[in-house]
Amino acid sequence: MHKDVDRVLVSREEIHAKCIELGKQITKDYTDRGELPILVGLLNGSVPFMSELMKNIEMDVEIDFMDVSSYEGTQSVGSIRINKDMGTSAAGKSILLVEDIVDTGKTLTEVKRMLANKGAKDVRVVSLLDKPDRRTEDIEADYVGFTIPNEFVIGYGLDYNQKYRNLPYVGILKPEVYEES
Ligand code: XMP
Ligand code: MG
Repeated sequence: MHKDVDRVLVSREEIHAKCIELGKQITKDYTDRGELPILVGLLNGSVPFMSELMKNIEMDVEIDFMDVSSYEGTQSVGSIRINKDMGTSAAGKSILLVEDIVDTGKTLTEVKRMLANKGAKDVRVVSLLDKPDRRTEDIEADYVGFTIPNEFVIGYGLDYNQKYRNLPYVGILKPEVYEES
C-alpha cells in the first residue's frame, strides 16, 4: 500500500468485479432499449474506470472524452468551462457519461444540461463512486459502483494535487498529507 494511504476503501478486486456487473447491466439496458451508447469519460479522473468498464460492455460502443472544470467562486450551479469538448457531435446521441465520483452533483448537472442543449437524445451517468452526504443538486447517477462515506478519497483515477491517480485501488488519504501542504 502507498505510504500516504490511511486505508483502502475499495480494492482492485472489488472494482474489477463491479465493472463486470455494471458492464452486464449496461449491456442489457441499452440492448433492451435498442440503443448504442457513446461512452463519454470526464477527464482525467474517469480514465481507469472507463478503461475497465468498457471492456465489460458487450455492444459496439464508441468512446469519447470531455474535460470540464467549474468556475471558481460561482454560486450554486454556475456554468462550467469546457477545456476539451467531445470529438463528435452530441446531437441525436445516446450518451453515457462516465465519472469517477459524484460529490455535490454540480459538475454532472451542468454537463447534462449542456449536452441536452446540444441536442443529445438521451444522457445517462455511470459513476465509480457516489458520496451522497455532500450532494447539493437534485441529481443521481443511473449506475453507481460504490457508495462511500464523506471522506476524501484518492486512487483509481482520483487525485490529490494531481497525484495518486495511478493507484489500483480507492483509498483514504492520510490527513497529515493535506495538512502539511
Ligand atoms: P461535484 O461536486 O461537481 O464534483 O459532484 C465532482 C468532482 O469533484 C472531485 N471530487 C473528488 N476528487 N477525491 C477526489 O480526488 C474526492 O474525494 C472527491 N470528491 C469530489 C472529482 O474531481 C469529481 O469529478
Ligand atoms: Mg472528476
